[in-house]
Amino acid sequence: TREAQLNSILATVPDAMVVIDDEGTMVSFSSTAQRMFGYEESEVLGKNVSMLMPSPDREAHDSYVGRYLATGERHIIGSTRRVMGCRKDGTPVPHELAIGEATGGGRRLFTGFMRDLTQEEATAARLKELQ
Ligand code: HEM
Repeated sequence: TREAQLNSILATVPDAMVVIDDEGTMVSFSSTAQRMFGYEESEVLGKNVSMLMPSPDREAHDSYVGRYLATGERHIIGSTRRVMGCRKDGTPVPHELAIGEATGGGRRLFTGFMRDLTQEEATAARLKELQ
């Protein structure tokens, strides 16, 4: 099936992938995203993506998405940005976020690819200490 094909592709992409609708509700959560954030897919589907980030973005994220829908002004879409996520156990997870936009069955969807920077940043910090 298409879904099995898509899942096998996603399993080989090193980035976590999260898909949300125009209200910020999560509709897909890849297995890499499950490892990165510590949630099972069933724990997050139907919930707002803001649960994956710390304050103050957590409270403001709906307004970021709303502003984009109202103005079409891109702030992250079309580029990448280092942002901070928040794992289920509360530990922060720095990552590089890229967002794409798609339309599916009349719905507006956003796809987020997230590359975990935890190891990279820990290594950089250790190197700096050694200097
Ligand atoms: C916008 C943070 C995850 C979709 C934003 C902005 C911030 C942000 C700060 C506004 C940027 C600005 O005004 O300069 C975060 C953080 C995340 C996260 C900390 C960590 C979990 C996601 C994911 C998606 C997503 C996974 C989609 C699947 C969007 C959309 C916008 C947005 C659609 C508005 C479009 C734009 O500003 O270009 N986010 N985000 N975000 N985010 Fe997120």
